[in-house]
Amino acid sequence: MSLTWSAKDHKNMSQPAATGQKRSRNDTGNKVTVVLGAQWGDEGKGKVVDLLATEADVVCRCQGGNNAGHTVVVDGKEYDFHLLPSGIINSKSISLIGNGVVIHLPGLFEEGDKNEKKGLKGWEKRLIVSDRAHLVFDFHQVVDGLQETERQAQEGKNIGTTKKGIGPAYSSKAARTGLRVCDLLGDFKDFSMRFKNLVRQYQSMYPALTVDVEDQLKKLKEYSERLRPMVRDGVYYMYEALHGSPKKILVEGANAALLDIDFGTYPFVTSSNCTVGGACTGLGIPPLNIGDVFGVSKAYTTRVGIGAFPTEQLNAVGELLQTRGHEVGVTTGRKRRCGWLDLVIVRYAHMINGFTGIALTKLDILDVVDEIKVGVAYKVNGKRIPHFPANMDVLHKVEVEYETFPGWKTDTSAARKWNDLPAKAQNYIHFIENHIGVPIKWVGVGKSRECMIQMF
Ligand code: GDP
Ligand code: IMO
Ligand code: MG
Repeated sequence: MSLTWSAKDHKNMSQPAATGQKRSRNDTGNKVTVVLGAQWGDEGKGKVVDLLATEADVVCRCQGGNNAGHTVVVDGKEYDFHLLPSGIINSKSISLIGNGVVIHLPGLFEEGDKNEKKGLKGWEKRLIVSDRAHLVFDFHQVVDGLQETERQAQEGKNIGTTKKGIGPAYSSKAARTGLRVCDLLGDFKDFSMRFKNLVRQYQSMYPALTVDVEDQLKKLKEYSERLRPMVRDGVYYMYEALHGSPKKILVEGANAALLDIDFGTYPFVTSSNCTVGGACTGLGIPPLNIGDVFGVSKAYTTRVGIGAFPTEQLNAVGELLQTRGHEVGVTTGRKRRCGWLDLVIVRYAHMINGFTGIALTKLDILDVVDEIKVGVAYKVNGKRIPHFPANMDVLHKVEVEYETFPGWKTDTSAARKWNDLPAKAQNYIHFIENHIGVPIKWVGVGKSRECMIQMF
């Protein structure tokens, strides 16, 4: 499946350039490579981005906030990124936080300073922040917690959010009462008035919410001065990056397809579009500029938080995957739920994203397993269904059809090329790519950069 078919089919059409002259459609500019989670998050996107970022000129985040937790291991040092694009490690590339991201300023600077202590130098000079990005305030995070308590009280269950204020901040954005980076850097009097109105609005919904408005505004003013040199018109920055000299531009997806606000396991999802459309709306770039779309999937499945998980293994297999895979959330420290690889969800993610390649991570975690299962279809009332169910009651009840594979029972962590992998592991990988219908471009066999086997 190619996302660029129309470029060939509409050769003679033209679109206006920002300067006013016509630009022909077969001169659409540089292509953007997008890396997206194909499951419920934590697939190893950070590691894939880090690999590609070594050659990238610009690395962008387009959605989500510091609910994301991306781990990158370089020269034995482990970095975790939440709001900063993982490409910030590459001192030769620019990192951009796009308009679709929601930014908690204290979180952003804390993250940068923490990684600076680990050796990340000069990150503030390499970071560009879109003036259209919305802000997450401390009270959004408090409200996130209050909403979780309310859900628990009303429905007996919550979502298990990261409590980073993501849902409330995107709610403010959709309600058109949110405040953006450009507002913070504009007339501070006006910003203060709108901030106070927003606080009042939330206090009328949550009377228990207390906010020290003056203290918040004082801190925001301080942050705004540190932020100011990084802020640009994100749309124009991307336009120039796309249409200037040849550049490698990378988009780092946060969260994942099954957490997408439209396509995920609603309501147990996050509040942004974590699928390919989010790259366009979250950066202001045309679909014609989307090039490769790489889906990242573990060789098994994990999920943090509440919600249906058809291939979950609440048994010794699940425990083994959890402990061997060190499946603990980077952002919240919660244990991740674990189960067999579910190809129904990865195929569903492919339907939406049109992957041109897959990175299959954490194959090494399966090295000790005797028998490996893969979910290949869902049945409802004994009948296979061709689609992924929208209704969570249905998803809870589906019966999973599995294929079973013999384990390879060999340490793969030192494998660096396809031929180093045992035949049974190769067989497992081939089955996955045939079933999804997308070539597997990388296989991960360990945490660090070099533990990625490149297939083509
Ligand atoms: P992200 O949110 O998609 O970037 O993924 P996380 O960083 O939250 O979680 C992935 C975890 O798996 C991190 O601890 C990575 O260091 C680790 N990891 C990634 N790829 C591999 C792999 O191929 N093998 C092993 N053993 N660990 C990996
Ligand atoms: P990365 O980018 C795993 C989950 C939360 C919760 C739900 C809603 O590291 O893959 P939110 O705080 O966004 O309102 O929480 O979404 N979630 C993630 N799970 N990895 C992530 O990001 C996640 N981002 C959100 O656990 O169930
Ligand atoms: Mg993560």
